[in-house]
Amino acid sequence: ELTVDTRAKGTEVSPDLYGVFYEDINHAADGGLYAELVQNRSFEFDSVDEPAYTGLTAWSKAERGATATLAVSSERPLNDSNRNYLRLEVTGEGTAGASNAGFNRGIPLRKGSRYDVSLWARRASAGPLAVTVESGSTVYGTATLRVKAGGWAKYTASFVASGTTDAGRLIVQAPGGRTDLDMVSLFPRDTFKGRENGMRADLAKLIADLKPRFLRFPGGCVANVGTYDPYAENQDRRRIYQWKETIGPVEERPANFNFWGYNQSYGIGYFEYFQFAEDLGAEALPVLSVGVNGCGENRPLTDEAKLARWVRDTLDLIEFANGPVTSEWGSKRAELGHPRPFGLEYIGLGNEEIYEEFFTNYPKFADAIRAEHPDIKIISNAGQTSQGPWFDRMWQFARDQKADLVDEHYYNNTTWFLANNRRYDSYDRNGPKVFLGEYASRGNTFHNALAEASYLTGVERNSDVVELASYAPLLANVDYVDWTPDLIWFDNDQAYGSPSYHVQRLFSRNVGDRVLPSSFEGETRPVEDIEGAVGLGAWNTAVRYDDVKVTAADGTMLLSDDFSGGSGAWTPGLGTWAVRDGAYVQSAQVEDARSTAGSPGWSNYTMEVTARKTAGAEG
Ligand code: AHR
Repeated sequence: ELTVDTRAKGTEVSPDLYGVFYEDINHAADGGLYAELVQNRSFEFDSVDEPAYTGLTAWSKAERGATATLAVSSERPLNDSNRNYLRLEVTGEGTAGASNAGFNRGIPLRKGSRYDVSLWARRASAGPLAVTVESGSTVYGTATLRVKAGGWAKYTASFVASGTTDAGRLIVQAPGGRTDLDMVSLFPRDTFKGRENGMRADLAKLIADLKPRFLRFPGGCVANVGTYDPYAENQDRRRIYQWKETIGPVEERPANFNFWGYNQSYGIGYFEYFQFAEDLGAEALPVLSVGVNGCGENRPLTDEAKLARWVRDTLDLIEFANGPVTSEWGSKRAELGHPRPFGLEYIGLGNEEIYEEFFTNYPKFADAIRAEHPDIKIISNAGQTSQGPWFDRMWQFARDQKADLVDEHYYNNTTWFLANNRRYDSYDRNGPKVFLGEYASRGNTFHNALAEASYLTGVERNSDVVELASYAPLLANVDYVDWTPDLIWFDNDQAYGSPSYHVQRLFSRNVGDRVLPSSFEGETRPVEDIEGAVGLGAWNTAVRYDDVKVTAADGTMLLSDDFSGGSGAWTPGLGTWAVRDGAYVQSAQVEDARSTAGSPGWSNYTMEVTARKTAGAEG
């Protein structure tokens, strides 16, 4: 018998409770939400970052009679932030050029849709560039760009696709002589809400369908891990995320080698994030570093003058979001096409910084924000754990600092989620509120989704203290996986929501105003462990895995991979093995798909890993 007290006041549900955690992880931006179809459009990939990369990653020759020589040059570049470009030399009769492979299987085009081609070019003599998208011998789109003699200039054209493909190649052919090319871009006209430089429509729609009340960005570890000092003359290629680098013309945004081990174009920058949040009807919730790394790395910024500049940059961000058009940064927002303030309400300071330096640096940022923008809600954090000495210290620090919210992150198994429904019942109602900024049960099965649904009933019941909650991570490209589980999976032209996605959607779209007290009398039946697979994982960003073997107790080899083939291999039918490019593995998981429903219990697995530290890496 279920009794619901309809006369009670109940708990008011936070109006912002359900939101999304967006991070550029698993190629969530380039090759994902960012609708750009050309990979390495600015030739900034570099083997210094990743041995498998070169400036010509995703590019190859395309010869039509003449001979092409492709080289990456930095002589008289497009600008100081975009130092490399393609130098194409064409000799002989006919034309020749360069072909881009796009992401996943190739470049997807849809029959009847319009696509915008743009590139920067420099030639000594005038000459036409023929741009096509082809797959095999079929040409799906053609455009001609008439390059004038002289220095760098931008050229644009568009075409309507004559057919549908998910495996196209973008080919740029030039006449004889030297042509310098940079920022070679192909963009679908049909982006989410028709935004220029916008979001891939199907992925954005899946996110919009969640009806998120907030959009946390740009991460995660991507937001606060990188080499300090952010203001050094010779910037490291793996830089801490700086919002000012990510606004303005895309050709002036530098590329960065991000925490997750791949190049990030910053094509989606802070302006696009704010715009996207607005298009979703969600609050923008940026998370910034306070000059301390997190996520297992710590290279704090201690130089006081530089820290003061970093604090100023953070205040400038608030002005960029909310300032009037007469203010310095409000006017930049207006120049970018958004005179109206974005109405920023929340700001996150730090992500999982369980280091002493966090306690030193955080107040400098929080105090400055309180002084200039007392209405902004400041979010501190509690590391990546659901309990323990650091968790307690971080929470106590947040209370002492009078933070408005504390960002909790935890990834646990289904048993934990089922057992901890009452976690927030006993939280102090007078201290900071909870931002459950990252959580997921470890897996993407129906059972995981069910455990999360059960847990969310406890979150909702306590949403007087849990103000915001977001599953993490949001997006994963099936061919570039750094982290599982994820909410939405996609390749170059398809996407689907995991079972956890449907739980988020269900809760977020059906949120009530109040939760009434209820009680249940009768036989309680435990939720059985119906997981159909056992997962094992290894994760270390500083390690190169040379050989990995996973063996079940009965001697069956589930996985044996020496990476000689470049990507993971597994015994067919026994599960999946996720690696990212080449031998550098950040997230490695193997599932024993033979473990079936109805046969719960312990099994023994052996995971044997031969690994070596990447030169210079910590950890
Ligand atoms: O969500 C994936 C990662 O988990 C985030 O980048 C980080 O904040 C956490 O460790």
